[in-house]
Amino acid sequence: MMRGKGIVNRLAAIAAALLVAGPLHAEDGYALWLRHAPPEGEGRSRLARLGGLIVANNPDHPTVALAMRELDDGLAQLRGGAAAADGAATGIRFDCHDPAVARGGAFRVMADKASLRIAAGEPVGCLYAAYAILRELGQGVDPAKLALDEAPAMPLRMLNHWDNPDGHVERGYSGRSIFDWWHLPEKLGPRMIDYARANASLGINAVVVNNVNARAFMLEPRYIAKLARLADAWRPYGIRVFLSARFSAPKDIGGLATADPLDPQVQAWWRAKADEIYAAIPDFGGFLVKANSEGQPGPQDYGRTHADGANMLAAALGMRGTVIWRAFVYQAEDTTDRTMQAYAEFQPLDGQFADNVIVQIKNGPLDFQPREPFHPLFGAMPKTRLMLETQITREYLGQATGIAYLAPLWKEVLDADTGRGGPKPKTVAQIVSPVGMAGVANTGSDRNWTGTHFDQANWYAFGRLAWNPSLTSEDIAREWTAQTFTRDTETVRRIAAMMLGSRDLVAQYTAPLGLAHLMGTGHHYGPSPWVCDLERPDWNPCYYHRADKDGIGFDRTAKGSGALAQYAPSIAAQWADAATIDEKYLLWFHRVRWDHRIKGGDTLWERLAAEYAWAEIGLRGRIQSWEGLRPHIDAERHAAIAADMARELKDARWWRDASMAYWQSVNGLPLPAGARPIPESLEAYRARTFPEAPGQ
Ligand code: GCU
Repeated sequence: MMRGKGIVNRLAAIAAALLVAGPLHAEDGYALWLRHAPPEGEGRSRLARLGGLIVANNPDHPTVALAMRELDDGLAQLRGGAAAADGAATGIRFDCHDPAVARGGAFRVMADKASLRIAAGEPVGCLYAAYAILRELGQGVDPAKLALDEAPAMPLRMLNHWDNPDGHVERGYSGRSIFDWWHLPEKLGPRMIDYARANASLGINAVVVNNVNARAFMLEPRYIAKLARLADAWRPYGIRVFLSARFSAPKDIGGLATADPLDPQVQAWWRAKADEIYAAIPDFGGFLVKANSEGQPGPQDYGRTHADGANMLAAALGMRGTVIWRAFVYQAEDTTDRTMQAYAEFQPLDGQFADNVIVQIKNGPLDFQPREPFHPLFGAMPKTRLMLETQITREYLGQATGIAYLAPLWKEVLDADTGRGGPKPKTVAQIVSPVGMAGVANTGSDRNWTGTHFDQANWYAFGRLAWNPSLTSEDIAREWTAQTFTRDTETVRRIAAMMLGSRDLVAQYTAPLGLAHLMGTGHHYGPSPWVCDLERPDWNPCYYHRADKDGIGFDRTAKGSGALAQYAPSIAAQWADAATIDEKYLLWFHRVRWDHRIKGGDTLWERLAAEYAWAEIGLRGRIQSWEGLRPHIDAERHAAIAADMARELKDARWWRDASMAYWQSVNGLPLPAGARPIPESLEAYRARTFPEAPGQ
């Protein structure tokens, strides 16, 4: 069937024509990486030959129709609004049920001068192919040379929204929630479609719509109707909806006296609830559960295990859906090292979880810090389906100020050798690839979706890594930049370089040398290493840095908490010696004296001071570099990003000054030679409050 040029296409063409009228016209970032800005010169004329005729063998399938339309519209935009050349030489053919291609989103794209062929095992593969073609063309690839053969590495590529039904987003820094629960199901805002498009363009195929600190009423019939409307809208984009379920729901909204997972009435309640959801949403994904963690209810309230709780919900869903059970647990009563508690609770349960249960594990054993070693549960539960949880929103990395490109953080974890998994030990990526990867979303109602423009790159990088964890951080940065800002090779190189070093800079001025969790109470913004009076010891920064007049750091060796022993011996051996450990992890695993000599000869104290100073130099260099890019970036986004960078430099200086003032107050040492003076007193830094900080 031939697709004519519909109104959508004409509008896209007009929009694209406006876009070329001035390549550097102000942009607000709403279009994300899907701007499809037309290339110049030869690239433009090559595209003119592409896209006159698009055919498919089942064009009425909603996802196939969408794939055809997305490709058609995207090509029109890339052509700068011009129609395809008369008698366009290149016909495009979709075959979305090709038995030679795997199901589950895989696709092949084959091109020559006369044709472009797309083959997929099922329609969603065609949709992914359409976006992949546009991504390639958006980077300047010659259409006649397109050759792709891709399959997602992980079956579940999922966003976890920490959005509350009242519109507030926990740890959200980009405005209110994108979900308008109040007006659903009658009204579905256009953002819900643009959001699905953005996700599908990356291969993201699952969305948990509500906070893990869940409200039980979201399981009530009125919310199921709202969720069904979303599920219907997102289905053509290949996205399944999931709900965070509050474990005590049978009590909270079900009128039962208990939520004990072994109670037959409780089991029957959940089964009926699941049936009710599946009647409305036949492809409902399942439940995400935070249980017995930070005050949330769970099976342990009834003396049952995490496996008892997860398996009860899994039985209610049956093979229709999945229970994703979070391993982020720690107990107030437990005085062992907090980073050891998840392993201690979950590892002994290996082999006890039902087939449709996934255990979702944060990248590190603490809580999304700027740098953590990988979580020791990876590799330690070979009989359990394990999924990686990352945080796209930057709760502990400056929130929506400055720049922190997180692909290098996630790659560090994905590429980590666990030392476990048989004669050829597996990396974290190999362990989670058969299952999936989740990212805590950073989207909000801000016009550019993520608060700062560069945070779009984190949404993008998450999706790309879940699709293919062997992509490099640099490749992802380059492809994002080319689509988001400009194809100019030198500009792309310079922006990618800024992105690649950005997370290290944040770690350097907030958590140097393996320190962690020094952020302000509650909002987690800014330095507070002095906090030591919170009701739970492990909520206090002083619990983590343990600084006193003799030294600093958390001893997790056999002489200390023993956390190192949770890792495979070959891995633990790399970190066991303070003299040889990679300095990035020094104070995470070791407590050392202030005069401890670091590789290179500096004392710990001198080196700590230098880390803060180097971060400042790096940030200043980046500001200059960005200034040099002014001619290549539209004014609106250039100015917004310049402001982000200025704020980050100010914050980095604050981190340095406040932290150094505090470290000095405990070690009594003079500032190392050459260090700039600290402008204010420790008391002045301690006295700063900013209750208006968002996201709590
Ligand atoms: C962090 C975060 C909380 C969140 C929790 C979780 O502790 O600060 O807001 O609820 O992680 O992952 O459950």
